[in-house]
This record gives sequence, structure tokens and C-alpha cells, in this order.
Amino acid sequence: MLETDKIFAGSIPENYDRYMVPLIFAPYAADLAERAASLSPDTVLEIAAGTGAVTRVLAPKLSAGARYTVTDLNQPMLDYAASRQAPDSRIEWRQADALALPFEDAAFDLVFCQFGAMFFPDRISAYRETIRVLKPGGHFLFNVWDRIEENVFANDVTNALAEMFPDDPPRFLARTPHGYHDTALIRSDLQEAGFSSITIETRAEQSRAPSPRLPAAAYCQGTLLRTEIEARGGKLDAATDHAASAIAARHGSGEVAAKLQAHIIMAAA
Ligand SMILES: C[S@@+](CC[C@H](N)C(=O)[O-])C[C@H]1O[C@@H](n2cnc3c(N)ncnc32)[C@H](O)[C@@H]1O
Repeated sequence: MLETDKIFAGSIPENYDRYMVPLIFAPYAADLAERAASLSPDTVLEIAAGTGAVTRVLAPKLSAGARYTVTDLNQPMLDYAASRQAPDSRIEWRQADALALPFEDAAFDLVFCQFGAMFFPDRISAYRETIRVLKPGGHFLFNVWDRIEENVFANDVTNALAEMFPDDPPRFLARTPHGYHDTALIRSDLQEAGFSSITIETRAEQSRAPSPRLPAAAYCQGTLLRTEIEARGGKLDAATDHAASAIAARHGSGEVAAKLQAHIIMAAA
């Protein structure tokens, strides 16, 4: 992962929430919120909450007396999440790095994280921080994307941009969001941090959009691919057009749908 891969700021929060969340994050947010709520936790910490895709689904499912601490490394993402959330005195918004959580030991029944672990520069350190803030017997629930070939629009866009920039293809999607999918490694990282009772489930979903341009714009403009395209002197509109043509050639020019796949991991402290 490059240092710049974790900077979600500028126009990214708005574009991310408008395009990326409905396209790929919403189905997994519903799944993770269901799993989190089924544990009936009183004290919940969300790490890497982004623009609040899970927060908005989970908050109504938590008990009236629950305390829900919602965090992210990048304050602009958290600000966007807070702006979309109905007033809720159970929620505390707080900027926090997963590698240095600003919380006491044994403070939470549940820590969860949707599609954040791939961005942590040292995952074992992040998992050690997580187990530190969990109560004994508490749960850590998170998900990560499977390999890019199983996530079809991401792969299509990456291949299309490689045609545009053959000497230095923008590899952000393959390198970081889809760069931590080895379930044996995930399991051993968790064990090294002290977790036990680890279960990993692989779940396929469908990514749907009204036209090929939407996934093209979502990936080229709502993720850090945007920065990579601009850094190569590329025009965002031209890159988006090229990616849209590639998606249309493969999936048709009307409504499009393609496979998503992720791993959902649960571990006990
Ligand atoms: C792909 S987004 C996922 C956001 C959200 N959970 C969702 O499902 O839409 C990854 C998030 O990880 C955050 N992030 C990156 N590095 C982090 C770190 N070290 N600690 C906490 N959050 C981090 C980013 O700011 C970004 O909001």
C-alpha cells in the first residue's frame, strides 16, 4: 500500500458516498449490520466508518441504551457521515487511527469494521489495538474484498486504465482494496494478535447500475484512482469514458450487473 492510498479527502467523500456506496458497499453494509445487531451489543466501536454506510443501517437496530462510537482516520469522511445521520444521542463521532485507538482497555462488547482493514499499514498492530479495547469474550467483526478478479467492475476498470496508461498502469484497486484477500493470512494475522474462534465466510453479491458510465465514474472519480489518473496527467472525463466503453463492451449499454465477492470475518477476544 502507498502512503497516499489512505487519504480520503477533497471531493472523494461526496463522490464516494454518492456513487460507490450504492454500487458496492450497500449490500455488505446490510449484511454486517445484521450480524452486528444479532450480537445485541451495549457498547460498539466502528473503525474506518467512512461516510457511514453501515452506521446508518446499524444505528436503528441497536438498543435504546447502547453506546455507539463511530470513528475514521479521515475527518472529512466522518464529517460527511455525521451530516447524513439523524440526530442520535447514542452516537459519538471521533477521529481515530485503527493503529492507535484512543480508548481504554476492555471498553467495547463489539468492534467492527467494513472494508477498512486493507488500508491499515500494519494489520497485526491494528488487531492488537482492537483486542485491547474489546472486553474479554467480545467480538471483532469485519469484512474485506476478495481478489479483484472476483469483483468484476473493479477489474474491468483496472484493465481499461492499463490500456490508457500502459507504461504506468494505475493499480490502486488491485493493490489496496483488493490486496488483502488471502484467508490463511487473515486468520494467522488475527491469531498472532491474540484472537481465537475465528470464522471466515465468503459472500458473493451483485453490483447493479443503470448504465456502464456509473461504475466507471464511481471507480475513476469516487476512489483514490482519481488521484492516480490525475498524477499521470490523465483527464478524469476521458478515463471515465474509456472505462465506461470497456464495461459496455462486456456487459451491454443499458442496465449492468456484475459479481462482487468479499470475506466476512468474526473473531473472539
Ligand atoms: C473503503 S473505505 C470504507 C468506509 C466504510 N466503512 C464503508 O463501508 O463505506 C475505507 C475507509 O478506511 C479509512 N481508513 C484508512 N486508513 C485507516 C486507519 N489507519 N484507521 C482508520 N480508518 C482508516 C478511510 O478513511 C476510509 O474511510
